[in-house]
Amino acid sequence: MADQSTTKIAVIGGDGTGPEVVAEAVKVLKAVTAIEGFDVELTDIDYGSQRYLRTGEVLPEYGVQRLREFDAIMLGAVGHPDVPPGVIEKGLLLELRFQLDQYINLRPVKLLPGVETPLKDKGPDDIDFVVVRENTEDMYVGVGGFLKKNTPDEVATQTAIYTRKGVDRCLRYAFEYTRRLNKKKMLTLVAKTNVLTYGHDLWQRAFNEMAEEYPDIKPDYNHVDACCMWMVKNPEYYDVIVTTNMFGDIITDLAGILQGGMGVAAGGNINPDPGGTSMFEPMGGSAPKYTGQNVINPIAAINAMAMLLEQTGHQSAADRVSKAVQLVTSTKMKSQAAGRMGHSTTEIGDLVCEALQS
Ligand code: IPM
Ligand code: MN
Repeated sequence: MADQSTTKIAVIGGDGTGPEVVAEAVKVLKAVTAIEGFDVELTDIDYGSQRYLRTGEVLPEYGVQRLREFDAIMLGAVGHPDVPPGVIEKGLLLELRFQLDQYINLRPVKLLPGVETPLKDKGPDDIDFVVVRENTEDMYVGVGGFLKKNTPDEVATQTAIYTRKGVDRCLRYAFEYTRRLNKKKMLTLVAKTNVLTYGHDLWQRAFNEMAEEYPDIKPDYNHVDACCMWMVKNPEYYDVIVTTNMFGDIITDLAGILQGGMGVAAGGNINPDPGGTSMFEPMGGSAPKYTGQNVINPIAAINAMAMLLEQTGHQSAADRVSKAVQLVTSTKMKSQAAGRMGHSTTEIGDLVCEALQS
């Protein structure tokens, strides 16, 4: 959380189109630091599938320890056709979220001007909410196992774990965030209390208790299935949503397409504690079929960089980047889809840099 001193950023381009979009985000970062007059120190780190295929290890021995030294991490994408599914996702992305205790996954859902949404008759005023996804518990913890594997009597378990501490710290962040955002001041808990009568009962009780401390915030509740329906029918209803890890994963893909798709959606894996290292990423994957063609949309990565700037205390730089992005989406881009933007990846980066001046 360095403001005065140099902000140290680790840059993990990762796989596929990751390095291409991250390069544009870094280009914009350098341009905005020059305008706003502060220093960043960038360190490229080669974690990802290429390194895994070369060395057989996903993360080197002191990999996590090394990352702790940074104020923030910018991550491009992980996933490679030659690596079995789950190896890099679990070994790198989830490992970093857990080890660095990035217990919040913050995913703003904002339809930018000029960006197309698949929702009929909805515009930027309607699609503007934030999902606070818990990021270290639930079915993601990897607790479970097999019994009688590969026999007709096989049993598989995958346990969802919720701790009072883990739930409370996520809720705390969400209530504080809703207050700071200062819009509708409504926080919707999204869960499934009608079926998950233990785990989500804990969420509901913790939520209700904490709501007492925030009389200025309207507490609200949706079952996750109904939430999916409302998000499509009445997205303008939402202000801030707080939810569990797995539900958060699912509803933010739905939300992502509402805001124009993976070309624009960004998120932050945040450790809000003092000295915590947070990691920001575009939500789109590594897109192997577009790799190396200069056609992928870097807006999501640039949006992720704006979130990184905000988290590291550079609010005015973050605002400047967000404004520049909006200028580019509304006046320069034909579409947010790869190959149909009317510009190449690097041109979009240049256009955002130019727009920073205005
Ligand atoms: C996400 C992704 C990850 C998740 C995968 C790649 C492990 O889908 O960031 O939403 O499930 O969290
Ligand atoms: Mn996901």
